Amino acid sequence: MFYPTFRARRIRGKEVFRRMVSETTLSATDLIYPMFSAFGTGIRKEISSMPGIYQQSIEHIVAEAQEVHELGVPAVILFGIPETKDAVGSDAYAEHGIIQETIRALKKQVPGLAVITDVCMCEYTDHGHCGIIKDGDVDNDETLELLAREALSHAEAGADMVAPSDMMDGRVMAIREILDNNGYKNIPIMSYAVKYASGYYGPFREAAESTPQFGDRRSYQMDPGNRREAIREARMDVEEGADIIMVKPGLPYLDIVRDLREEFDLPVAVYNVSGEYSMIKAAGRAGWIDEERVMMETLLSFKRAGADLILTYHAKEAARVLKRG
Ligand code: PBG
Ligand code: ZN
Repeated sequence: MFYPTFRARRIRGKEVFRRMVSETTLSATDLIYPMFSAFGTGIRKEISSMPGIYQQSIEHIVAEAQEVHELGVPAVILFGIPETKDAVGSDAYAEHGIIQETIRALKKQVPGLAVITDVCMCEYTDHGHCGIIKDGDVDNDETLELLAREALSHAEAGADMVAPSDMMDGRVMAIREILDNNGYKNIPIMSYAVKYASGYYGPFREAAESTPQFGDRRSYQMDPGNRREAIREARMDVEEGADIIMVKPGLPYLDIVRDLREEFDLPVAVYNVSGEYSMIKAAGRAGWIDEERVMMETLLSFKRAGADLILTYHAKEAARVLKRG
């Protein structure tokens, strides 16, 4: 009779041992909760493809942010739905734009919560692209100027961190420079360094009303098959002064999260995007999966892959589960 000398099951037999030898931990402090701030008052409209996630006016944003803070989630990231859109995305860098006003309200009423802002043009342009259009395509260098103005206006309104998601070349440097020149040397930049052209953003575009009116984003977002290019993209942002580098989407790109973790010594963030959230919600609602269990397993997988921070629509639910223990 053959007996194995090593028995992997020995240490798995008791819950207390399983906990002691667990290699990865998930904590509420790893999470960042995305919110959609809409112009107006009395607005709280659920996104049909994202149950539990709302477009809401500032007073409702503040109330939910209070709840986020009490759950021990340290930060939110804001997206704006402005009153009007135009070709140059004016509301993105307006002193009293939707995001600027939301930041002021949050910093005043929930001061303990960190406010991160998404820096991009697509929510504010009538054509829905992430920059200025010239000859039928997004013009990189002209867009840089507007992104820099947008980031500065967020800092002036009190944002704690800015997060450019546009995928223009050179945006981290442009933003770093304008912040430094205006007394915001200590505002960190979390760069969406590795952002793929993905079908998983579909529900977000409903939430942010930012679907491109022509073409798609493949001329500026990354090709899903490219791995070496991810390192190159991230290196560029690191050299330009990024403080945190992000991979987006999350679940289909865990190999890239691991690559960045091994290549750089900066904090790595991952964006568990809208389509990933919608799939778990849909399957959960249909009774096809144990929704809570799959949610926690998914979030843990980001930590195991090497992420330090997770942007996720599940943040509140996950924090509740973690609190319960
Ligand atoms: C805007 C932006 C997008 C997301 C974050 N910032 C959408 C896009 O690039 O089309 C996606 C987030 C999500 O799907 O949850 N540039
Ligand atoms: Zn954009």
